[in-house]
Amino acid sequence: MINIAVFISGRGSNFIALHENIKKGVIKNAEISVVFSNKEDALGLDYARKENIPVIVIPSKDYKDRHEYDNLIVKSLKPYNIGLICLAGYMRIVTDELISAYENKIINIHPALLPSFKGLNAQKQAVEYGVKFSGCTVHFVDGGMDSGAVILQKVVEVYDDDTEETLSERILKQEHIAYSEAVSLITDGKIELSGRKVTIRK
Ligand code: GAR
Repeated sequence: MINIAVFISGRGSNFIALHENIKKGVIKNAEISVVFSNKEDALGLDYARKENIPVIVIPSKDYKDRHEYDNLIVKSLKPYNIGLICLAGYMRIVTDELISAYENKIINIHPALLPSFKGLNAQKQAVEYGVKFSGCTVHFVDGGMDSGAVILQKVVEVYDDDTEETLSERILKQEHIAYSEAVSLITDGKIELSGRKVTIRK
């Protein structure tokens, strides 16, 4: 059984999709042991509390130093024996303190086909650039921004009349599928990481 910590900053729909798929048995050998948020008013926290999932909130606005902040996170996660951290709409760059404490155990979902459209508002960037396809990427987290090894991607067509909102909605549906697939691959022990390359064992 792998204890998962999900990190959120807002709505939490990816967190909810992961939890629903664990409950349904689609993701096996895993439990969401704790939800961490850097925002007190993150909507996803309501769902966590309703589902009796422990919640840790450390408001990032109270901390200037990212390293000090991530050290606090590491300390607060200790009791949960976490084997995997899933960043799910967690809108902060993580530092070495967290990455070295959980080496190759932190993954993120990004709403674009990396390495295109890193950072904020990826769907808006895709619409403005005029790409014909975008999608989402689940990747390991390293010290850079959206730069770690890619685990899996889902492709979504971009229509001529798409807005940031319509494209985001279409991508989000794929995010919910992709994140559960990626977590399953990890909890089933099917992922091999070598440098930037992720191989999926059949
Ligand atoms: C998702 O689209 C996720 O990919 C994105 O934020 C949204 C969170 O939605 N993350 C990033 O842009 C990270 N760079 P959710 O809170 O409903 O899961």
